[in-house]
Amino acid sequence: MNILAIETSCDETACAVVQDGRTVLSSVIASQADEHKIYGGVVPEIASRRHAEQIVQTTGLTLEQAGLSLPDMDAIAVTYAPGLIGALLVGVNFAKGLSLALGKPLIPVHHIRGHIAACYIAHPQLTPPFLCLVVSGGHSHIIEVLDYTAFKVVGKTCDDAAGEAFDKAARVLGLPYPGGVEMDKLASTAVPGKYRLPNPKVENRPFDLSFSGLKTAVVNLAHNAAQKGESLDKAALAADFSDRVSDMLSSRLFAAAEQLSYKNIACAGGVSANSQLRSRLQADAKAAGAQLYLPPLDLCVDNAAMIGAQAFYEYSAGNVGDSSLNAYASMDIG
Ligand code: KG4
Ligand code: ZN
Repeated sequence: MNILAIETSCDETACAVVQDGRTVLSSVIASQADEHKIYGGVVPEIASRRHAEQIVQTTGLTLEQAGLSLPDMDAIAVTYAPGLIGALLVGVNFAKGLSLALGKPLIPVHHIRGHIAACYIAHPQLTPPFLCLVVSGGHSHIIEVLDYTAFKVVGKTCDDAAGEAFDKAARVLGLPYPGGVEMDKLASTAVPGKYRLPNPKVENRPFDLSFSGLKTAVVNLAHNAAQKGESLDKAALAADFSDRVSDMLSSRLFAAAEQLSYKNIACAGGVSANSQLRSRLQADAKAAGAQLYLPPLDLCVDNAAMIGAQAFYEYSAGNVGDSSLNAYASMDIG
C-alpha cells in the first residue's frame, strides 16, 4: 500500500511516499528554519504562509523522487494534531483536496504517534509492545506503546518540554535558533566538569519529568557572570546542561521500564538526535540488558515518512477521516 504523507505541524513542509508502513520510497523536507532564525523562534504566521507556498512543489518533488504519480497512491495521510493550528490547517486542507480529487482514503495522523513510528522505519524487527520516550520541542512523554494504535502515557513533563528547555538555554547562551542542535555541537567541544547544574526532581511521581529548574539555573549563571563581568564557558555549560537533561530522561525511562517489565525500549522526537542523550540511553540499555531502538538523525526531527509509517497502521485499524476533518493545536496521544 503506497501512502502519500503530508506533515506541516511546525516549520517543516514535509512530504513522503511510504510503502506498507516500513519502506520509505521518498521523503522531502522543505525547512523554513533559516527564515525563523532572525526572530529567534518559529513565527506561526510566517510558518503557515510558507507551507501554503511550498506544499505543491514539495509534493511534486516527493512523487518525482519516488518515480510515481498521484494515481499510484492508495491513500493520503496528514498530520492533524498537535501543532501550530494555522500550519496544520494548510496540510489538512491540502490532503483533503487530494483525497477528494483522487477518490482515495484520507488518514489523519497524530504527530506524536508519527514520531514513535519513525522507529518502525529504522528497525523492521520492532513491533509493539515497547516503552518509548518521546522528546520533542513541545512534548516529553514516557509512553507504553501497547499496540500500533494503543498508547498509555506513564510519565510526562510537569513544565517545559525537553526541546523547549534546550532552545531556551541556547537562547540565554546567545546561540542561534534552532537551539537544541547548536547546544549539541557546542557541548561536543567542551572540557566538561566546570559547572554542576542542579538535578531536577519531581516529588512522588517517579516517571514524571521537569526542566524549568535547569533552565532557570542557566539563566542565573549567565546573569551572575554578566554582573561580575566574568566570561561564561558556554561549551562546558552546554555539556553539563545536556548531561543533566539526559540523566533525567534516561533514568526515568529505565525506572519505568524496570517497574513495567519492558526490555524493548525506544526513543523518538527531535531531542532523540542529541548525542549525549543517545550515548546515555545506550549505556543504560546495556546495563539493564534491554534492547534500545533509536531512529537515525533524519527520522528524529520532523518529517513526513514517520507520518506515512503510522498512517499504515491507522488505516489497518480502520482510522480514516473524511472531508469534515479538522486540525487541532493540542490533543492527547490516546
Ligand atoms: O520533533 P521536533 O523536530 O519538532 C517538534 O515536534 O517539536 O523537535 C524539535 C526540537 C527542538 O526543540 C530542537 O531544538 C530539538 O528538538 N533538537 C535537539 C537536537 N536536534 C533537535 N535538541 C538537542 N539536541 C539535538 N541534537
Ligand atoms: Zn515533531
